[in-house]
Amino acid sequence: MTLTASEPAIADRLALAREVAGRAGDLQRERYETRLTIASKGASIDLVTEVDRACEALIVGAIREAFANDAILAEEGGTGAGPGAEFCWIVDPLDGTTNFAHGFPRFCVSIGIERRGERVVGVVLDPLLDERFEAVRGGGAWLGSRRLAVSSETAFGRGLFATGFPYDVHTSEDDNLEAFARVVKSARGIRRDGSAALDLCYVAAGRVDGYWERKLHAWDVAAGILLVEEAGGRVSDEQGGPVDRSGRELVATNGPLHDSLIEKIRRRAV
Ligand code: IPD
Ligand code: CA
Ligand code: CA
Repeated sequence: MTLTASEPAIADRLALAREVAGRAGDLQRERYETRLTIASKGASIDLVTEVDRACEALIVGAIREAFANDAILAEEGGTGAGPGAEFCWIVDPLDGTTNFAHGFPRFCVSIGIERRGERVVGVVLDPLLDERFEAVRGGGAWLGSRRLAVSSETAFGRGLFATGFPYDVHTSEDDNLEAFARVVKSARGIRRDGSAALDLCYVAAGRVDGYWERKLHAWDVAAGILLVEEAGGRVSDEQGGPVDRSGRELVATNGPLHDSLIEKIRRRAV
């Protein structure tokens, strides 16, 4: 069995998302550990390489050709189509750029699709492990031919968690370090692997029990949130309320550990 979508408008877009994620992933695999042109964006530790840009151009070009009326929100600026479009593609052409630039083997292509503001498709491809995570609203979350389910862990002390730090960590006091310390001190383990989209997929796959991060962007989380929800997990802001598409504040868990993770990471008054 693999993921299918019954509605043609969704099935056609899922097919294109798979195809372009595959092509961008091929490019990333070819260029991995080769000489790269690396530039930094606003904050000095926020990097972009020519591979990020080439992957985005490839993905955005294919979407425009196939679905000219769809809106696109893409990290490196390939944004287009006016308001009122029924579908919006949210693209992170290379999530994990710092890893990619350093030859650390953990990065991916992430493509989410919204229909009138509702997440309907998510595709995340890890080109080195050849793992394609995907979900369609109502159709479950899948890793290739395997249907995914979040973990069933109920004890925080046996939990493995993931997180990340914002690009303004050198200058902002809202840096996630206190929350990180509290979780390290009470969980079985914590990982900071540098790809938000894969972190969310790993919650969906039950590889980690929970994940939180602040100051992300829509392209980091668009596909991954749907993966977690379709795998039976819970996604919210840090108050337990609905998560918004911005990625500003995100907690994603297997469900049973959600409230305790929120309690651990809650900002304390000084
Ligand atoms: C970053 C990664 C990282 C997270 C950053 C993101 P990028 O995306 O997802 O894990 O900690 O906040 O911006 O810049 O590699 O696409
Ligand atoms: Ca990203
Ligand atoms: Ca990126």
